[in-house]
Amino acid sequence: MNKIIGTDVSRKDGRAKVTGTATYAAEHQIPNLIHGYLVTASIANGQIKSIDTGAAEKAVGVVAVFTHKNAPKVFMPTNNFMTSKIYESRLPLSDDKIYYAGQIIGLVVADTFERARDAAHLVKVEYASQQPVVDAKKANFKEAPPLFGEELKFEKGNVTAANSAIAKIEATYKTATELHAPMEPHAIIAHWQGPDSLTVYEPSQWILATQRTYAELFGLPTERVRIVTPFLGGAFGSKAFPWPHGVLCAAAARKLQRPLRVVLSRRQMTMNAGHRSETEQTIRLGANADGGLIMIDHEAKSCTSPVEVFPEPCTGITPVMYSAPNIRLKQELAVMNVGTPTFMRAPGENPGMWAMESAMDELAWALKIDPVALRLKNETKEHQRKGQPFSAKHFADCLQVGAEQFGWKDRPKQPRSLTRDGKLIGWGMAAATFPGMRSSASAKVRLLPDGSAHVLTAANDMGTGSYTVVAATAAEILGLPVEQVRVEIGDSLLPDGGLAGGSQMTASLVPAVMSACKEVLKTANAKTAQEAFASLRQSKRAAFEATASSAPGAEAKKWAFQSWGAHFCEVSIDEEIGRLRVTRWVSVMDIGRVINSKTAASQVRGGVIMGIGQALMEECHLDPNIGYPVVYDLATYHFPAHADIPRIQVAFVGEPDLNFNPAGARGVGEIGITGVSAAIANAVYHATGKRIRDLPITPEKLL
Ligand code: MOS
Repeated sequence: MNKIIGTDVSRKDGRAKVTGTATYAAEHQIPNLIHGYLVTASIANGQIKSIDTGAAEKAVGVVAVFTHKNAPKVFMPTNNFMTSKIYESRLPLSDDKIYYAGQIIGLVVADTFERARDAAHLVKVEYASQQPVVDAKKANFKEAPPLFGEELKFEKGNVTAANSAIAKIEATYKTATELHAPMEPHAIIAHWQGPDSLTVYEPSQWILATQRTYAELFGLPTERVRIVTPFLGGAFGSKAFPWPHGVLCAAAARKLQRPLRVVLSRRQMTMNAGHRSETEQTIRLGANADGGLIMIDHEAKSCTSPVEVFPEPCTGITPVMYSAPNIRLKQELAVMNVGTPTFMRAPGENPGMWAMESAMDELAWALKIDPVALRLKNETKEHQRKGQPFSAKHFADCLQVGAEQFGWKDRPKQPRSLTRDGKLIGWGMAAATFPGMRSSASAKVRLLPDGSAHVLTAANDMGTGSYTVVAATAAEILGLPVEQVRVEIGDSLLPDGGLAGGSQMTASLVPAVMSACKEVLKTANAKTAQEAFASLRQSKRAAFEATASSAPGAEAKKWAFQSWGAHFCEVSIDEEIGRLRVTRWVSVMDIGRVINSKTAASQVRGGVIMGIGQALMEECHLDPNIGYPVVYDLATYHFPAHADIPRIQVAFVGEPDLNFNPAGARGVGEIGITGVSAAIANAVYHATGKRIRDLPITPEKLL
């Protein structure tokens, strides 16, 4: 058998992307296409008193102007995160209310994009404005509801009775509002073939849920909607379900019976297509003199919009990371006049690990215990809320191999004791974690007489490597070179390929592809693909074909599945100008079996880079008086460029997690970002003796 799984396989879609032949949603060539431009609210709270569309309607090339007064009709979908959902639980243009600045209040449709945009600026709006709530300090926090049915609160033992602790840490950690800022802006083409048949070209992380959602919005049978999304230019959680602009575009296209395209500007994307809420978390830790934790108390707060309930689930990591007899988790949510927040790479785990891994570092300093040793000492064998043992857990290896590769044992034990070229040097580390998730998925495999294999599935590749992982899996099972496997994904006409979210596409899809490959060989009555090809040619048959599915089994309920990791980093700080450079990085991950070491390492690097952005640069501000975003493009929203990033050394440890799925692979999309900002803040403390608990760590905080 081939040895392809686990090796470095270069991206199947790489050439198409660098040569510009990969077709993104807005680039599909549809005859007779017209263009929509959004009109958005310039106040953050209140009501539309009057809206005058006369001038816009008379402008050259304008086809139609939609506002709440003539909103095209749609139905409210079931709206459940597990089946079908609109990200924002209010249908666009449903009334004259304004809940946040940038909210869609109209759509101008014209024969060209430029004419639609010009006419959109001719729409005159008068508002009855009220003072918006955009400052979390003035917001009203209440207990957060569960997310996906998972409770965010938990209590075991009694944290207040854990007074025998020798060392106690209590600190509050903050993160800023962060934007997904995918390279491909949010965009959609809606194309109706008659009143009951819709094709949507839109980036989608979950094709079949998007199909169900559009079908419900228009009261159609699911199969009357087709979603086409062969390429996504980044998503990070913001492209799983329709946003209001998508709903409005499809509804307007139906009304006009013309294919319609809507592309969001960067400014519109600031508030209209999701973000990660700012968070504030207070952590109290109590430990014995030897570092054994006896108490963990974790309180988290995040914000949501008036038109969606989305708590950033920070407390999810707490029962998973460290063992303690007394644990209390509390999660609160406030409604503010901000756009609707949503999943963003490691939702909950990311801010949760920022707080937890900063607090563990503070505890290590207080007890004069090495932070790696403190984590090893407190590792938990079971998920303390679910009461299940972890399957194939190799967290300790991540810590030990990472420490070894980084040279951690040479770390001076005092802050401010390392210098280089007149700059302070600091070393920091933090753990990483993300749950192992999987859903049911199916794939179809065809063997053709020309000696090629095709794999077809309604999966998608948001830049993560699905094309490549599917091809490598099929090549290995069929005994073919990767080049002879063609992968077709991103179309709801194909078998359900699952969801690219919660780091679960590989874990869901690879077992289905494995089964389908074995099945097609059975159908061909052949041991290898070569044998099958010979029999095709002999019999003049067009193809052998088989479809197979894979889904989590009942035995899986015995286990908790979780991926693990450790980051080690070095920072260099010029205290005179507050300049921080990340100069060295080592990440070691336990993700079960690695399917493609090249794309997996790339996912970890991408996560680390995004984490460096969170740690040092990324923050979205709203004007405190009017609630309008003062960050509105890729120049005002800072994130790292190549020059900000050192070489990122990535290694994998562990073993295939065969309790989890037949491939033993747990997925790697999100774990890389968790713990990164804490590792950097911990290194900043080692360099300077200054503990920064408020992200991002900008120059003025270092001065
Ligand atoms: Mo991810 S934030 O679950 O797309």
